[in-house]
Amino acid sequence: MFDVPPYIADLVPYPPGKPIEELEREYGIKNPIKLASNENPLGPSPKAVEAAARVLSKLHRYPDGSGYYLKQKISEKLGVRPEQLVLGNGSNELIDFLIRVYVRPGHEVISSDPSFLVYRKMVQIAGGANVVIPLKDYRHDLEAMAEAVTDRTRLIFLDNPNNPAATVISRKNLDEMLQRLPRHVMVVLDGAYEEFVRDPDCPLGFEYAGRHPGVVALRTFSKSYGLAGLRVGYGIMAPEIASMLDRVRQPFNVNSVALAAAEAALDDTKHLEETLRLTWDGLDMLSGELEKAGFATMPGHTNFMLVDTGRDARAVYEAMLRKGVIVRAMGSYGFPRHIRITVGLPEENRMFLQAFREAMRDLPPA
Ligand SMILES: Cc1ncc(COP(=O)(O)O)c(C=O)c1O
Repeated sequence: MFDVPPYIADLVPYPPGKPIEELEREYGIKNPIKLASNENPLGPSPKAVEAAARVLSKLHRYPDGSGYYLKQKISEKLGVRPEQLVLGNGSNELIDFLIRVYVRPGHEVISSDPSFLVYRKMVQIAGGANVVIPLKDYRHDLEAMAEAVTDRTRLIFLDNPNNPAATVISRKNLDEMLQRLPRHVMVVLDGAYEEFVRDPDCPLGFEYAGRHPGVVALRTFSKSYGLAGLRVGYGIMAPEIASMLDRVRQPFNVNSVALAAAEAALDDTKHLEETLRLTWDGLDMLSGELEKAGFATMPGHTNFMLVDTGRDARAVYEAMLRKGVIVRAMGSYGFPRHIRITVGLPEENRMFLQAFREAMRDLPPA
């Protein structure tokens, strides 16, 4: 048969959250709610939808391969220069670019366990070695990560906030780590959920990337901007790094509908504010109710939270599915008793709580 190296054959396809249509088909459930993939329950900004629709009659044209206008908008908003920006087909693609440019067989990449699974997968594809440091009290253990650095280390991935624990690092701890690191190590601050953070002591990636030549910040339009289906993300970095990533980028990696929608979404500050208010209210309500019922939750610095069900999370997931609520069981992230739930609309949060209470009544504690 065709030859495949063992490090590719060993990969496990990414387990996406169950699509709503599948639940309707398989379980015969009408109008299930999906709280599994950290999406924006309000939907996209109506302005982004209008902008996307305007592009549809021009789909015979290739997109602007440089993303000129979107980069202008981002640079004005964040106070960085356009040449510090690289756009991607989701921030996932930026992770791919970084690893393709900087990681070769024999190189090491440090990340936390658990953290966003895509880092490790891409490193494996590149034939690099993953050095995985367990979270300490659900937080990145920056000291242990710095200690794990060797001559072969090229990148350190920090999802801040962390997915799935939803915890954040502090400026002080990050500053201390950056001071310790040798110059050949790049730190990637993945801020996919940064807009949701309420803690003023949490370092924001774009501020660091502007100042530190060895820090790359990632951001996405998939979460707070509600454009997950269009796949747009970006990275902020030193121009020299951006120019390297640009060399491996496909010429039209971000499509024209995505570019137009992302630009409009950035302008729609009202939609972002509504999203944040809805998320924070939902987090506070859900954690309050769950704690009252005796279930430990993690402080949510994101639009999702971990809940310790005290039971086999897979069974909880199945029981919730039958009640029409899709959550995520976290066994594959090393939390066999936890589920991860994304904040939904207020009525979805209430439906979740009711289904959860019923499931807990029916299932034996682990
Ligand atoms: C921590 C983290 N980083 C990056 C991403 C990728 O987001 P996207 O490729 O949709 O921009 C996700 C998505 O779930 C995430 O949780």
